[in-house]
Amino acid sequence: MDINTPISLHSVSEAVRTCAHQIHLYLAQSDGDPTPFRKEIAEKIRELLRQPRLFEAGQKRPSAHADAACMLYFDPCLMIAMAKSHAGQHESAHNHGAWLATAVYEGEVQYRGFERMDDGSRELHADLRVAEDRIMRPGDVALTAPPPHDIHETLSITDNTMMVVTGGNFATRRNYYDVGKKCYSVR
Ligand SMILES: [Fe+2]
Repeated sequence: MDINTPISLHSVSEAVRTCAHQIHLYLAQSDGDPTPFRKEIAEKIRELLRQPRLFEAGQKRPSAHADAACMLYFDPCLMIAMAKSHAGQHESAHNHGAWLATAVYEGEVQYRGFERMDDGSRELHADLRVAEDRIMRPGDVALTAPPPHDIHETLSITDNTMMVVTGGNFATRRNYYDVGKKCYSVR
């Protein structure tokens, strides 16, 4: 699409609302847990990713670690946001306090998702297992389980734009995990 072509906000708006609505229908069947509908939710996100110039349609927002970020949709149980990162940018394993789908809109990203194996009873201790480890390209979607398994790590292989869909707002404080040392810090 030519950069000077105006974005059709109506079609973006409809696509965003349709995606959010359909994800809610799945979540309503599983008490808010996306994992029984992993494939279906990923497909709904993939459909939204086909919209051109999505990032420009969003509301710009501050971000903890992205070069630029925007919000496409928010309600108290679901958020759809986007973020731009540069090649080489590494976000070590961290959580968000809610399940999270990471999707690639443009570029390439190395993604790792983790499950927490310990019971959380020892403060600042966490034993993580790699649940997923792959290179993601446009249209790829990876989904975490709900907390305490909402842990992921990304390494930007190229400059990229990612979409994040999460089951609620981002927590203001996150755990950052040292997987090898089996510990975490809170920031
Ligand atoms: Fe994250």
